[in-house]
Amino acid sequence: MLKRSKFLWVLLVGALFFSLLVGCSDTQTDEGSGGDSDEGTSDEGSSDDAIDVGIILPTRDEPRWVQDEQRFRDAIADSDYTTEILFSQGSSANELQNVETLISRGIDVLIMSPHDGDAAGAAAKAASMEGIKVISYDRLITNTDAVDYYVTFDSFAVGEAQGQYLIDNTDGSGIPLYLYAGASSDNNAFLFFEGAWSVLQPKIADGTFVVANSSAAEELSSKNELTRDELGQILNQVTTNWDPNEAINKAQTHLTSAGAELKGDVAVLAPNDGTARSIADTFSSDSEVTSYVITGQDAEKASIQYIIDGKQSMTVFKDVRRLVEDAMGMAITILDGSDPETTGSYDNGSVDVPALQSEVITVDQANVEAELIESGYYEASEFTGLE
Ligand code: GAL
Repeated sequence: MLKRSKFLWVLLVGALFFSLLVGCSDTQTDEGSGGDSDEGTSDEGSSDDAIDVGIILPTRDEPRWVQDEQRFRDAIADSDYTTEILFSQGSSANELQNVETLISRGIDVLIMSPHDGDAAGAAAKAASMEGIKVISYDRLITNTDAVDYYVTFDSFAVGEAQGQYLIDNTDGSGIPLYLYAGASSDNNAFLFFEGAWSVLQPKIADGTFVVANSSAAEELSSKNELTRDELGQILNQVTTNWDPNEAINKAQTHLTSAGAELKGDVAVLAPNDGTARSIADTFSSDSEVTSYVITGQDAEKASIQYIIDGKQSMTVFKDVRRLVEDAMGMAITILDGSDPETTGSYDNGSVDVPALQSEVITVDQANVEAELIESGYYEASEFTGLE
């Protein structure tokens, strides 16, 4: 009896032990996957797990970077090289984790647009320590020597174009000027504002424009070339952090505290399209604002429609196809064992990073069709009200 019962007993314990074993492994997988970093996109072509080029973009929540994802996909569709695109979703911690994931996938080249230029240094270092070449994309990774190359647009020229547009499209003197800027964690935000200031400052100093929303800008209005610190003082007052909602809050606060002399026909320096639309909506809902001229950047589809409808005055077109071509061209040259060509360099606070820089184009109602439809960037059918 015992024997049999002993046998049954052993069987039972055995079964129990087996079920415990199965239970543990499930937990293992979950932990391994590391929670909330962004689910990426890797191209179908890759049979095994290794990939050649890892691509990190700041966030999926802004149409600008979704443009880049699509343009990368288009560019790599027929390539023999395998890639994976991951988004940092506005978090440097996610960004580092995504880079570690890509390192474990065997990348040889990392193309990264940092969420925060300084904080991204850790991720770049992690890749560089593995012998991976790091290409900074659009935004510069700052204060680290772990960056090999930089592909970008002429960000200073973006700001110059925005400032010049306000000068060329307003009349008279004493014109209220509302200044807005990008996130100070983004090196580009300084370059955009510096470019705009380089042309606006003389017009503030001669009374053409009156700064309506920044005491720091007023105090510095006699100085054309500002230090990084002085630029930072102004950015702290007028930053949107690239967040359309923060832009609305700031615009509402500025309009609420502005007197009638700072309303009427006004000029607005908005740093990019995402914030420009929300600021334009806020200004157009203030009955004391009779008209506004407002800038933008990125030629996002929604802003092209705003321009066609006369709700946004201009945008600075940065042909992302060109930036993707430059970045992937560099990556493939590196994978082929050669050194990519560059046309200049950027001081990132630690090293001079060899760079490739592309031009930008001012777009408003007059040339929207020529620059964005005839160039094949967008289809006419994606808009209403085009001639
Ligand atoms: C900048 C980029 C712009 C803009 C912004 C917001 O670095 O150059 O095109 O989109 O980030 O994400």
